[in-house]
Order: sequence, then structure tokens, then C-alpha cells
Amino acid sequence: MTSDTPRVTLITGSSRGIGRVLAMKLARKGEHVVVNYKKNAELAEEVVRQMREAGGGGIAVQADIEEPADIDALFEAINASYGRLDAFVANAAASAFKPISGLRLHHLDRNWAMNVRSFVLGAQRAVDLMGDRGGRIVAVTSYGSLRAFPTYASLGAAKAAVETYVKFMATEFGPRDITVNAVNGGLIDTDSLEYFYQRVPGMAPMGSVVEKIPLGRPGTADDMASAVEFLLGENAGYITGQTITVDGGLTVVAPPFWSDTSGELRQAVYGPAAKSE
Ligand SMILES: NC(=O)c1ccc[n+]([C@@H]2O[C@H](COP(=O)([O-])OP(=O)(O)OC[C@H]3O[C@@H](n4cnc5c(N)ncnc54)[C@H](OP(=O)(O)O)[C@@H]3O)[C@@H](O)[C@H]2O)c1
Repeated sequence: MTSDTPRVTLITGSSRGIGRVLAMKLARKGEHVVVNYKKNAELAEEVVRQMREAGGGGIAVQADIEEPADIDALFEAINASYGRLDAFVANAAASAFKPISGLRLHHLDRNWAMNVRSFVLGAQRAVDLMGDRGGRIVAVTSYGSLRAFPTYASLGAAKAAVETYVKFMATEFGPRDITVNAVNGGLIDTDSLEYFYQRVPGMAPMGSVVEKIPLGRPGTADDMASAVEFLLGENAGYITGQTITVDGGLTVVAPPFWSDTSGELRQAVYGPAAKSE
């Protein structure tokens, strides 16, 4: 690979959401992205078309990352098209949102396969394709690894396991000049957020969470993708084994919440307009 050969990054689940926004950011820098998806072939091909228009390139590869054989086929497709890989972003996630008392055996097994096993299998294969050129691995996690909230135990525990793997991988892959980090998101505005707050029966209203976020708004896919892009970039070359939290301050607040205060105390934080509330 020469210095002007475009970098190749695999992003799992990049037909939509955070993965798609990240793919476009990399394409605008002239890079190539392997756009992995499960079902939405049309959307994935559209991302590839838009990446080319933006000055980059890439391929769309269908693979259900819950299935080890699909993961093998995904990396074989990358090898066949490019013969190498420079960065791996483990982004796709899925889980059942239920109280712990409602988690059945298949929920537990599928959650592990989808969100943890796929990361480890993917990292093993990514490292092989990175060879001796170094590389970057970034996992996308969420604040369920740090805090407990309704129905998120299964995915939160998986994200915590991924963040722990990140530390172990950093020590094992560091000598090959491969950095391994995670970006942990708070409440981020994508399709999956709509699913969580609108379709999980009995879920608390999203507004009740947003009002607790110090920055006062949901995060965007761009907020998340920007942090991943930083970790993939040259300026992050000496950062490894870390998790960067992108949550508008959600994980540092605790009760009593500023949003529940009144009078002068509330005004001190929200300004004079807060007086009447
Ligand atoms: N949204 C949030 O509030 C939030 C907050 C914190 C962290 N995160 C994390 O951010 C990451 C991305 O979330 P998102 O909300 O951007 O996702 P999303 O909009 O729900 O998009 C999901 C993507 O994953 C793909 N996918 C789903 N199951 C797959 C499978 N089995 N194999 C391969 N691809 C699969 C989908 O492909 P198809 O289009 O083919 O279905 C799609 O490209 C996840 O790790 C999530 O946990 C999200």
C-alpha cells in the first residue's frame, strides 16, 4: 500500500444511523468503506453511490453478524475486493428489551452472539487483514454499560463486555500498532431510539430523559460519528484501550436533578426565563 492508497474501513451496520453518517464522513475524505448490512440492500447500495459521489468509494456486503459463517464471508469479500483492511468499526447492535425476569434462554444467547461474539470474531479477522501495517478498531457501545435503566440489562451487559474486550485487545494488538477503543453513546437520535421509546410497552417518555441531560438535547448520529472519526484519525494514534463517552453529560448527573429544582436555584442554571416554571 502506498501513502496515497485510500484507507479501507469496515463498518458493521452502516446502511442506516450512526454507521451511515460515519461512512459518509470517511468517503468525503476520499476513503473506502465496506458498508455491511443485514436486510436493507437498497439502502446500503445507496450509501455506496453517495460515497462515490462524495469522492470516496466502497462496497456493500450483506452479512448477518449474529452468524459466524456470515462474518467469515464478510471478511472473505473484503479480502477479495481489497486484499487488506485498515480499520474495523463494530457498530451494528440488536437486542430484546425486557425486564431481566422476562429474558429467555434464546434472548440471552442471541444477545451474546450479536453484540459480543461478533466483535471478537470480527476483531480476530480484522487484525489478520491488517497484517503488519497497523490499524484501528473502534467499538460503538452505550451508556447501559455504565448505568442501569428499564429493559436494557441484556444489551448494557453486552456493551460492558465489549468495553472490557477493548482493554484486553489494546494490550494484545498494541505491539502490532493497532489501537482499540470504544465510543459510548447516551441518548442518540436514530431509528433505534424511536423503537426504544415508542415500541417498548410501558417505556418512560423520552422527554423525561432529555430534560435530565445537562446539554438539554438528544445526541445526533453526527455527534457519535465525529468521535469515532477522531479515534480512526491520525491525531488519536497514541490513544488505546479507552472508552470515550458521548452523552451530553447524561452519565454524570444524579438525583436531585437540576431540572427538578425551583425558584432561584433553578434560575441559577436555566436563567431568568426559568423563574416562571
Ligand atoms: N441510537 C441510540 O440511542 C444509541 C445510543 C448509544 C449507542 N448506540 C449504538 O450505536 C450503534 C448503532 O446504532 P444505530 O442506532 O445507529 O443503529 P440503527 O439505526 O438501528 O442501524 C442499525 C444498523 O445495523 C444493521 N444491522 C442490524 N442487525 C444486524 C445484523 N444482525 N448484522 C449486520 N447488520 C445488522 C442494520 O442493517 P439493515 O439496515 O439491513 O437492517 C443497520 O445498518 C449500536 O451499537 C448502538 O448500540 C445507539
